[in-house]
Amino acid sequence: MNGSTMNVEQALQARRSVRAFLPTPLPAILVQNLLQQAARAASGGNVQPWRVVALTGEPLAQVIATAAQAEGEDGGHYPASLWEPYRTRRFANGEDMYATMGLAREDKAGRLAWFARNAAFFGAPVGVLICMDRRMGLPQWADLGVYLQSLMLLAVEQGLASCPQGFWRRYRSALAPVLGLPEPYEIACGVALGHEDTAAPINRLRTPRAPWQEWGELRGWPV
Ligand SMILES: Cc1cc2nc3c(=O)[nH]c(=O)nc-3n(C[C@H](O)[C@H](O)[C@H](O)COP(=O)(O)O)c2cc1C
Repeated sequence: MNGSTMNVEQALQARRSVRAFLPTPLPAILVQNLLQQAARAASGGNVQPWRVVALTGEPLAQVIATAAQAEGEDGGHYPASLWEPYRTRRFANGEDMYATMGLAREDKAGRLAWFARNAAFFGAPVGVLICMDRRMGLPQWADLGVYLQSLMLLAVEQGLASCPQGFWRRYRSALAPVLGLPEPYEIACGVALGHEDTAAPINRLRTPRAPWQEWGELRGWPV
């Protein structure tokens, strides 16, 4: 579907995490427009806690090379030993992902090699690093989520694909000097951005959602 004929609901339905990209470069003006428009996102107190760096070419290669050499820290991606129903959802997501590529559970090397593609922004021509002052708290993390989703939906409208990557938090110490981030800032999340490689098996993955009854309810309406 052409972006110009797309409404918000269609963009929301079309967005998904894409994990293989074509090398086709993206013009600076296009990337800046996306990043700037996404800042229409709501944030508590209009604090707008994001600080965003988009990389392509040499600076992108430098980030990828740094991550390849650095030892990753704990990303703090999930609470320790996740509980139900979240544990099962996360497990199923991993299994679905590997199944899409035909990687068996025993194929540890294959799975690891695939995971390492995170560190190459999955071959995307643009890597975005969304950073935040580490003194910020949970409400500002929520603000970043609003920014992130806005950015990803705007990308869909432009016919572009994305993958949000908490992965990059593993390299927040190693990358802060490379990115020249002022001291209290650190990477909160990465986003791979570019044109989808529609031939890549991984991009066949379609993720389910938990049924409404599991997490939502309406109160006060006649039944
Ligand atoms: C904050 C955040 C961090 C994520 N980090 C990663 C990541 O590091 N690597 C990855 O492959 N996917 C990552 N994802 C993508 C999720 O796995 C994906 O959103 C989820 O499985 C639902 O699939 P969908 O985005 O295709 O709808 C992340 C998503 C979010 C929102």
